[in-house]
Amino acid sequence: MDTQLRGRVALVTGASSGIGAATARAYGREGARVALTYRSNREKALQVASDVEAEGGEAITVRLDLEDLSTVEHAVTAITNHWGGIDVLVANAVRWSSAGPPDPSVRFEDVPLQEWQTMIIANLVGAAAQARAVLPGMRERTWGRIVLISSGIAEEGLPGPGPYGTAKSGLHGLARSLAWEAGRDGILVNVVAPGFTLTESRPPVPRAVADALTSNIPTRRLSAADDVARLVVFLGSGANGNLTGEVVREGSSAARAPRLMP
Ligand SMILES: NC(=O)c1ccc[n+]([C@@H]2O[C@H](COP(=O)([O-])OP(=O)(O)OC[C@H]3O[C@@H](n4cnc5c(N)ncnc54)[C@H](OP(=O)(O)O)[C@@H]3O)[C@@H](O)[C@H]2O)c1
Repeated sequence: MDTQLRGRVALVTGASSGIGAATARAYGREGARVALTYRSNREKALQVASDVEAEGGEAITVRLDLEDLSTVEHAVTAITNHWGGIDVLVANAVRWSSAGPPDPSVRFEDVPLQEWQTMIIANLVGAAAQARAVLPGMRERTWGRIVLISSGIAEEGLPGPGPYGTAKSGLHGLARSLAWEAGRDGILVNVVAPGFTLTESRPPVPRAVADALTSNIPTRRLSAADDVARLVVFLGSGANGNLTGEVVREGSSAARAPRLMP
């Protein structure tokens, strides 16, 4: 399949680890120019950049912090100055809650309102800010692909991480509106909603948890970051001719987390 990505510029945010790093490498394999963002781990981002180059792509790294949205505009300007434009945006960066990744034991009323504000601004307004910054250039070139990374939790819910799931479900509405808004300019906008995904940054999954999760997955296996990355690259490429406004549930998002609750 011809992804038509050779020489195209892909911005993958949050690419210093996990799904973003796998996605950056996958774009590299297609010969793309990949701009990777990091927040705290510049060294890891540089390592991923050299992996992208080893895969046959080109790479640069830029800092982007969802808690300071002026950095989104700065990052897009720096990349545009370097390569002349951005053809693909993968809005993957995530600001996890202050307590870390979603924790079902956290009671709803114990999450401070300040945490709600920070999470919604970083993870929902932050994605809108990324799309807003790349859209003018895509419209000019009448070609663009935008992939927003959500989570199975957006639709399935999970006790505890209210702000995370709420911000992620907002991405689904954002993608549908933007798909209508930008479609006539050749820009396709989709959401990928991964389920529980094995990444290099995730600690080993205890056997009992893995068994509980996989029992709810049609393929009886957890997805790896590379599984998600390949799907993202398809949607965010010329191989995707006219699919837009969709939410694609990646394999293990069929795992219904609440069933893990006692
Ligand atoms: N892994 C899963 O099971 C899973 C499931 C469903 C959905 N997802 C979604 O998939 C995406 C990637 O998840 P992951 O597990 O691969 O994450 P991860 O390994 O924890 O990586 C997160 C990335 O986001 C960056 N980041 C952290 N805080 C940030 C901030 N405030 N501003 C900007 N960037 C920030 C990190 O950069 P530094 O390390 O440089 O700070 C890193 O590059 C996220 O959108 C997540 O919600 C993941």
